[in-house]
Amino acid sequence: MDNFVIEGKHTLTGEIPISGSKNAALPALAATVLTEDTVILERIPEVRDVWTMMRLLKHIGVCIEQSDNAYSFKSELISLPEAPYNLVKTMRASSLVLGPLIARTGRARVSMPGGCAIGARPIDLHMNALEQLGARITQDHGYVEAQAPDGLHGSNIRFERVTVTGTEDIMMAAVLARGETVLENAALEPEVVDLANLLKKMGALIEGEGTPTIKIQGVDRLRSAHHAIIADRIEAGTFLIAGLAVGHGLTVTGVHAAHLEAVTEKMSQAGAEISYPREDAIYVEPKEPLRAVDISTQEYPGFPTDMQAQWMALMTQANGKSQIVENIFENRFMHVSELSRMGAKISLAGNHASVHGKTTLSGAAVMASDLRASAGLLIAALAASGETVIDRVYHIDRGYEDIEKKLAAVGAHIRRV
Ligand code: UD1
Repeated sequence: MDNFVIEGKHTLTGEIPISGSKNAALPALAATVLTEDTVILERIPEVRDVWTMMRLLKHIGVCIEQSDNAYSFKSELISLPEAPYNLVKTMRASSLVLGPLIARTGRARVSMPGGCAIGARPIDLHMNALEQLGARITQDHGYVEAQAPDGLHGSNIRFERVTVTGTEDIMMAAVLARGETVLENAALEPEVVDLANLLKKMGALIEGEGTPTIKIQGVDRLRSAHHAIIADRIEAGTFLIAGLAVGHGLTVTGVHAAHLEAVTEKMSQAGAEISYPREDAIYVEPKEPLRAVDISTQEYPGFPTDMQAQWMALMTQANGKSQIVENIFENRFMHVSELSRMGAKISLAGNHASVHGKTTLSGAAVMASDLRASAGLLIAALAASGETVIDRVYHIDRGYEDIEKKLAAVGAHIRRV
């Protein structure tokens, strides 16, 4: 298993190009099964979750070809509308094929994702919504089986709580359903909007994406399309926070600055100079001693839960006490014990964490526990004195493309062993 060995306290300067968004690529890949025509996707990040989704598509019967900077997908015949356990267990987002498969073939069999490190994360909201679209859902032997032999029909669906992949999954089911579907309390995330843009290029009729009410008029068939995935706002935010923790002028490029407003606003409050040297670039430089700033994770456009661990690592370097409230996932503080081992002072009460800064961090052997927790440990390691060894970096590889190369190029001392 790979480790990262990081020697801290080296200043980061320069530019980091940002990859395509993992969380936008995954639903876009799933959407390719909605048509028998070829779909071409550019800016697909080379990360483990994407490879898992591609293995799943191949299992289903999709032909995938890679060219210079794009992949093409052709699913002429769906031979096996099924997502097996060995693929789903490594990536919960595999449930994104449920909606497209049932819409295209009238049948889908998807392994239940089960619990995961950051909470129960069930897919009940996906299943309830599919039932409202006319699917018959049964569960046995750890699988969800959905049947709609006569096709799906439009419906008014109100999500009990905001779900990102749930909104995407049901949007993909509804584009081929008969009649109109209205999704209420839909997720506003840029990744949902990116998926809607791809589906519209394929001929889907969708209105209201990016608002809580999305209206979809079903069509008989979808067609080929060419689409470039949006930039990864979480990757960009992670590097910006690293730039504030240990940088001296760091720029992320190829980004959509508007998608990062909640994060850059908090960074400014904490003492960062943030500027926009180009339309697609964000520059960060620490201007004043870091100040403690509270965050509370929320659905978009609020502060993303996927940036919570990184913010906590940053706050160990800020003067004062900061409060961090996790509202999206029930068990997303696993990085706390590892940060404490590096010298951080953090107290936990339910979904509240209090970070008492500033503390001197010292390098230690730590264990990555999930994707974003690992990114938090990485930021702490960059700010710590001495050497940190992060074990189980396969968690980081799930969602960050070439992270050690990108960091080394701007001055970090990091190597994979
Ligand atoms: C997506 C992102 C993930 C991000 C999360 C929240 C992808 C591939 N992943 O995950 O990086 O952290 O949004 O921004 O895009 N829930 C239910 N029932 C369901 C579905 C969800 O109770 O059927 C709960 C979850 O347990 C969680 C909350 O709803 O507490 C939000 O989850 P959701 O938005 O669905 O997260 P994901 O789409 O899995």
